[in-house]
Amino acid sequence: MWFVSRLNMFWRKMNINSSITIGTKKKYISTEGRVTWESPSNIALVKYWGKWGRQMPRNPSLSFSLKNSVTRTLVDYRLRNSGEKGMNFRFDGERQSGFEKRISGFLHEMEDFFPFLKEYHLNVSSDNTFPHSSGVASSASAYSALALCLCSLQEEIYGEQMEQSEFFRKASYVARLGSGSAARSVYGGFVGWGKNGADSAGSDEYALPIGQPVHEVFRDLQDAILLMSTEPKKVTSSRGHALMENHPYAEVRYQQAHRHYEQLCDVLTSGDLMRFADLVENEAMSLHALMMNSHPSYTLLLPNTLAGIERIRNFRIRTGIPVCFTLDAGPNIHLLYPKLEQVAVVSFIEEELKDLLEQGNWLADEVGDGPVKLDSL
Ligand code: PMV
Repeated sequence: MWFVSRLNMFWRKMNINSSITIGTKKKYISTEGRVTWESPSNIALVKYWGKWGRQMPRNPSLSFSLKNSVTRTLVDYRLRNSGEKGMNFRFDGERQSGFEKRISGFLHEMEDFFPFLKEYHLNVSSDNTFPHSSGVASSASAYSALALCLCSLQEEIYGEQMEQSEFFRKASYVARLGSGSAARSVYGGFVGWGKNGADSAGSDEYALPIGQPVHEVFRDLQDAILLMSTEPKKVTSSRGHALMENHPYAEVRYQQAHRHYEQLCDVLTSGDLMRFADLVENEAMSLHALMMNSHPSYTLLLPNTLAGIERIRNFRIRTGIPVCFTLDAGPNIHLLYPKLEQVAVVSFIEEELKDLLEQGNWLADEVGDGPVKLDSL
């Protein structure tokens, strides 16, 4: 009950059409059809690490959406026959019982937001443009694509159009409940999530594009994802978030993230690439330091990750080219650099980093424009 009334309060606050409030019996305009969304993964520059309640972040985070690393999700829907179960799920064209259980549990939880889920059957099919465990957060792209599909289903099934900003806020809120960082993937460019001192509109419940102008050097920032290992992680992000509770450095970390968020907003506007490098690397190292000194302690960095970091920093000092790195919760390095340095940086990767990479593999990505509704193209 508490949760339902909180949701109602939330949607009222968001000025969402009262006719879609929880519990309202509505007429179905469409009884079958298909919606398809493509949604990107993102890489955080200020990291979300530590959560409470239902995927509420302990600190604000700031990421950019990727261009090439995306999930495509297609949902075929129709009114259910009596006794039929609610959904099935295919990944890369194959039934996957593990994923199916997770997605089915998630959809069940979403019935309060999308009451039609109780009466419709969904065939959900997804695929990713990037390899598994590659340092690209697949849960961010997967849950954002699914949340966008659910919002489109709502529009089709009830024959109503949400206002655009409302549509994306709802998608972000819903994506967040699947995976926190997914909240940021419903937009392109640089995206913030969490209450913060730089933008009074910032919310813990959904993400928003950052509130200030982004300097042109960052608008096409490149991200070379250097694959040190594609083995599944030893410690999941959920476990990592949980270890932040009672972490001896938790409070100072949350304050640091607030500071970094505000500083990064300034840097994104000013275009100061060296300050960007300093801030972003400090964030990445802070994330991994928190893992190393939690109880129990663990590390996801590999010897080759550290060797790569050393070479990147030396390259920056030697050449003055403002490359820098960030890390997700894993051993793979995201090497960030301005597009105008592409030729020099690609040769650096090929000549000086390749021997560290698993089968010499890396992925070329960059800042992207955000999700696309494919069935409307
Ligand atoms: O969204 P989750 O629960 O998988 O957590 C993501 C945590 C980091 O990727 C390490 C940081 C972030 O902000 O994306």
